[in-house]
Amino acid sequence: MKNEEILKKLRDAKGFVSGQELCEYYGVSRTAIWKAIRQLERDGYVIEAQNNRGYRLIENKDIDLFSKVEIESRMETTWVGRKLIFYKETGSTNLDAKEFAEKGEASGTVVVADMQTAGRGRRGRGWVSLAGKDIYMTILLRPQCRPEKASALTLVMALAVLKAVCEQIPQACGIKWPNDIVVNGKKVCGILTEMSAELDGIHYVVIGVGINVNQELLAEEIRQTATTLCIESGQQVNRAMLVARVLFFFEKYYAIFEKNWDFSGLVDEYNQFLVNRDREVCVLDPKGAFKGIARGINESGELFVERESDGEIVLVYAGEVSVRGIYGYV
Ligand code: BTN
Repeated sequence: MKNEEILKKLRDAKGFVSGQELCEYYGVSRTAIWKAIRQLERDGYVIEAQNNRGYRLIENKDIDLFSKVEIESRMETTWVGRKLIFYKETGSTNLDAKEFAEKGEASGTVVVADMQTAGRGRRGRGWVSLAGKDIYMTILLRPQCRPEKASALTLVMALAVLKAVCEQIPQACGIKWPNDIVVNGKKVCGILTEMSAELDGIHYVVIGVGINVNQELLAEEIRQTATTLCIESGQQVNRAMLVARVLFFFEKYYAIFEKNWDFSGLVDEYNQFLVNRDREVCVLDPKGAFKGIARGINESGELFVERESDGEIVLVYAGEVSVRGIYGYV
């Protein structure tokens, strides 16, 4: 019996659960149950105990408990995140996941942190990672596909984050190609995928996700382009729940992706949420920037852009270029 299982049972019961029922359910002694309850209390949970009724979890929606046990008690996956490593503070969950990969850790292992001291963003940039407010997580994968197929995994994660975020706030959410999640035209999530591979095979892929969740005010220099779920919805979001839901959707979409090792089964759903679709974009190609209208993605995750100068449909590959809106970030 694990503490997160007891926590889940108490939460699902929405009332008292007798000590006897817990003992029988887990096949353990009353002392073992009592010890687990005490540990949960030390972790910050408020649990009422009454002699003839048992135990009841007093949920406080204002407290955003973010811990291994809280996340695990909300997990609904089969293999994703079944091994979960949680840090109060770390350098970068992507670096941690890579280290775990080198040591032979299994596909599906997830690293989550409450704070990062050396958060990494795309294109060599940093990722500001304060404590107590946001989500920093990385999943380790060992896909059995050719290396060139792996870049579409970033889009699988984008779709998973999008679906999970949509559940938590009433505002419309979208994806800015390839993998930024946006609400009201501003970025709430960034994804950084890194891979170790040889020409014909992948050693591992790590997909790092940073979600701006509960900050009520962002630094002035990023306010124009970034926002948080709390700022947009006016409410605090339970981070542990959000992590568990991201992993749930990721497992679901990965199963579709791995059928052909491409995005064909997910293109339609992704395109529905593509905020750049049918909008003017500027393609920042190192060989020469150009303007056009974004028309959606193909089964490899590449973006169709109708070039303004000649009306040609050009395929844009995420690894080489980025796309900007003409009038702003989207
Ligand atoms: C971006 O630049 O848009 C991508 C940002 C990715 C940030 C996440 S936070 C968790 C993981 N660990 C890191 O160091 N980076 C990623």
